Amino acid sequence: MNTLIWAHRGASAQAPENSMEAFRLANRQQADGIELDIHMTRDGHLVVAHDETIDRCSNGSGRIIDMTLKELLTYDFSNHMDGYRNIRIPTLEEVLHFVKGTRLTVNIELKSGLVTYEGIEEKAIRLVSDMGMKKRVLYSSFNHHSLMLIKKIDRAIPIGLLYTEALVDPQLYALRIAAEAVHPFYYTLAVPGTVRKCRENGIMVHPWTVNTQEHMTWMYKEEVNAIITNYPALALDVKKRL
Ligand code: G3P
Ligand code: CA
Repeated sequence: MNTLIWAHRGASAQAPENSMEAFRLANRQQADGIELDIHMTRDGHLVVAHDETIDRCSNGSGRIIDMTLKELLTYDFSNHMDGYRNIRIPTLEEVLHFVKGTRLTVNIELKSGLVTYEGIEEKAIRLVSDMGMKKRVLYSSFNHHSLMLIKKIDRAIPIGLLYTEALVDPQLYALRIAAEAVHPFYYTLAVPGTVRKCRENGIMVHPWTVNTQEHMTWMYKEEVNAIITNYPALALDVKKRL
C-alpha cells in the first residue's frame, strides 16, 4: 500500500497554517496532497482559514462572516510565527490556481460551527469545476449534513466523513451516506479491524492529525490510504525508512 501524505493546513508545523507559504512548502517537501479549511466572507468569497474568527491566527479580531474580503486582506496571518510577516489570507481560488501547476491533490474541509455558511457547498463545487479541478479535489466535513448536500448536488463528487470519537461500524455509516472515505481522528483506529472493515467495503481511510514518528509508523503499518500531517517531510522520511 502506498500511503499518501497530505499536509494538514499545508506544512503547518513550519509555516503559518492555511497560508500560501504552507502550501508551497508542502509541495516542496513532496507531499501528495494538501488539506485546508474554508469559510465564507460577508461578500461571499471563499477563504482559507481554520477558525471562524481571525483572532488566533492573525493580528486582527472578529468573525470571517462579518468581514469583506478586502477587509480580511488588511490583516497579517503570520500566526505569530518567527520568520513570517505580512502573510495574507488566501482565497480558495488562489490556492487552487497554485495547485493546478503542481501534482498535489486537495482535501477541502467545509467548516461550520456556530456559524453556518448558506450555499458554501455549491459555491465551492462551482469554483472547483470552473477551474477544471474536479479530479483533484475531495471534500470533508464534521458536518455530515454538508456532506450529504454535496452528494445531492453531484453524487460523483468524493467526500470524506470526518469524526473525532470512535464510531460503531464507520464503514456502514460511510456506505449509508455514500462517502468514499472516512477521516477519523487517528486514535480511533486502535479499535481492532477498523481499517480492514473499511477496506473490505471499498472505503478509503485518511486519519488525522498524525504528527509523530511513532504514530506515522503505526498508520503506515495499518495501510491507511493517506495520513494527514503537519509534518509532510518527516512523514516522507519515516515512510522511506519502513
Ligand atoms: O481534516 C482533518 C482535520 O483537519 C480536522 O480537524 O480541526 O484540524 O480542521 P481540524
Ligand atoms: Ca481541517
